[in-house]
Amino acid sequence: MSNPSILILPGDGIGPEVMAQVTRIIDWFGEKRDLKFDVETDLVGGAAYDKHGVPLSDETMARAMEVDAVLLGAVGGPKYDDLDFSVKPERGLLRLRKEMDLFSNLRPAQCFDALADFSSLKKDIVSGLDIMIVRELTSGVYFGEPRGIHKEGNERVGINTQRYTESEIARVARSAFELARKRGNKVCSMEKANVMESGILWRDVVTEIHETEYPDVELSHMYADNGAMQLVRAPKQFDVIVTDNLFGDVLSDCAAMLTGSLGMLPSASLGLPNADGRPKALYEPVHGSAPDITGQGKANPIACILSFAMALRYSFDQGDEATRLEKAVEKVLADGARTADLMGPEDGTPISTTQMGDVILEALDASL
Ligand code: NAD
Ligand code: IPM
Ligand code: MN
Repeated sequence: MSNPSILILPGDGIGPEVMAQVTRIIDWFGEKRDLKFDVETDLVGGAAYDKHGVPLSDETMARAMEVDAVLLGAVGGPKYDDLDFSVKPERGLLRLRKEMDLFSNLRPAQCFDALADFSSLKKDIVSGLDIMIVRELTSGVYFGEPRGIHKEGNERVGINTQRYTESEIARVARSAFELARKRGNKVCSMEKANVMESGILWRDVVTEIHETEYPDVELSHMYADNGAMQLVRAPKQFDVIVTDNLFGDVLSDCAAMLTGSLGMLPSASLGLPNADGRPKALYEPVHGSAPDITGQGKANPIACILSFAMALRYSFDQGDEATRLEKAVEKVLADGARTADLMGPEDGTPISTTQMGDVILEALDASL
């Protein structure tokens, strides 16, 4: 039987820097755990634009549809800010999400004990935190029509449309309820049903799916603005949060700071199961290309490494190996390994991206 296949798309900015550490870890699993993958690497975002004039070529898109999992670093950067909207680096990522139909974006926010002191919130508010944000990823205001910028009289108007169908809400709600059953059995759904019709439909459909299919799971509803406040006031009240594309984008960056740094947050974007029962899947850190630190060896590779751990769990049925990798990360943090984003200016000298990779590989070796 052939090895499972992975398409790596490092992208732009710190994307290639953090992905280089993931590649070392993939090699480690091949050598030390006999877990071999067929890995191929290609371009996305600005890197693809520079070569092909588009942020994702049709060939790369086709490969993404064929492989067992896609790993992506990050896209975007100031060099590309003035490009036409249709070829901006971010459009490459949005095309992957849409065409692979990756409607369920899992963004876990876990606070490692070793970092509880470093969060911008008080230690007792974040220590032991373990929440999962399920962000709808293929619809809503990111994709709704009509959209665009046009002239009305003598001024310009910018338009985006928030649009959700019942079935789009139902499928992401199901994925949140399924996850909750394997965790704390609680779902909090966030929208703004007080001001948006799409929010009213969201609340109705989530309630219906709950009553008919998941009555055993505890469900609550919250307006998303209150949700943002509650996330920083008392985040441990949550288990699974399910929300739309835009609210999920904002709330997950907010949740990132509960864990200490945006450089810590992984994500999995999952579609419907294939014939073999596995979902189409793309794994990527929540952070972007971080132009302010690109090329300086400062990037924290942990978000990208933990995204590969999610791939082991959700695409390759290797839950134990995923846990091994997560424990290795936990161990190096407990031992004091810190990239610059995980320390204050007075806290000593940070280690580099590659050094963080080194110590995680050592911790993996020690786990054998
Ligand atoms: P960003 O996430 O790139 O950076 C925000 C801040 O967090 C910066 O100060 C950065 O240095 C820091 N940071 C992010 N990741 C880090 C890491 N791994 N280690 C240490 N520090 C880290 O967000 P931004 O500055 O708003 O956006 C920059 C570019 O990235 C834009 O072009 C944006 O569109 C793009 N972007 C891409 C993605 C993605 O590829 N999924 C996500 C968000 C933003
Ligand atoms: C993210 C990013 C993306 C989004 C951009 C780069 C398209 O912010 O993955 O969180 O807005 O979804
Ligand atoms: Mn974002």
